[in-house]
Amino acid sequence: MEIIIQPDRERASDLAARLIQARLRAKPDIVLGLATGRTMERVYTKLAAMHRRDGLDFRRCRTFNLDEYVGLAASDEHSYRYYMNHHLFDRVDVDIDNTHLPDGMAQDVKAEARGYEALIEQAGGIDLQLLGIGESGHIGFNEPLSAFRSRTRDKALTPTTRRQNAPMFGNRIEDVPERALTMGVGTILDARELLVLVTGSAKAAILAKAVEGPIAALVSASALQLHANCKVVVDEDAAAELKGRDDYVWMFENEPEWAAYR
Ligand code: F6R
Repeated sequence: MEIIIQPDRERASDLAARLIQARLRAKPDIVLGLATGRTMERVYTKLAAMHRRDGLDFRRCRTFNLDEYVGLAASDEHSYRYYMNHHLFDRVDVDIDNTHLPDGMAQDVKAEARGYEALIEQAGGIDLQLLGIGESGHIGFNEPLSAFRSRTRDKALTPTTRRQNAPMFGNRIEDVPERALTMGVGTILDARELLVLVTGSAKAAILAKAVEGPIAALVSASALQLHANCKVVVDEDAAAELKGRDDYVWMFENEPEWAAYR
């Protein structure tokens, strides 16, 4: 795992977007794993600008999102399909047929989850998975105690997560769906590369637990420590509780692989 600390959320999002740009340029038919949430909005704004300004080409890439709320249709402005269309897919030249999210309206959620796993496998697996971390320590919607070997399935959302996401539902926690379909921790760990973006002081404590604490199912994001190619990009606010901060800064400044990003 590498931790890259940037001065603020703007610079952290910029670095994440540039890394995605580099991977997409190197492999135009890349399979991208995508995330939603407030943290990612800046990244998608930047990717859309790279498309407009520099011709960043999404035509051959395929995408798989981490999760979708159960019971929300694609047309619902709170659904993650709506979010993705609005923040990214409608603003770049991706073939919409190559973009995938679990279907929150599926009659049979278990079959939907199995089908989603099969689609990822048929695509050859995920090359680069983008991730945020929730205040509950979740990645995707893998709430505390999710098995590290879990695969795509439907999960109940904790009160912490429903509270975290209430601002997107007009601050009405009762309107936040109670369940979601989510890739499992095991599905996420199968991606060939992970890019985690965490910003803001509300995430400082959970970030420290995830990357410096014990590997425990109680903090799903601690599973990231098991991945062989995981980059965690954070801003100073989120980094506030990291004990190894100075070492991480030194590594970033001295690793040749980061020369283009410093
Ligand atoms: C979203 C997702 C979640 C979010 C996390 C952080 O698809 O899977 O794990 O990445 O809840 O959300 P924000 O960025 O809104 O703080």
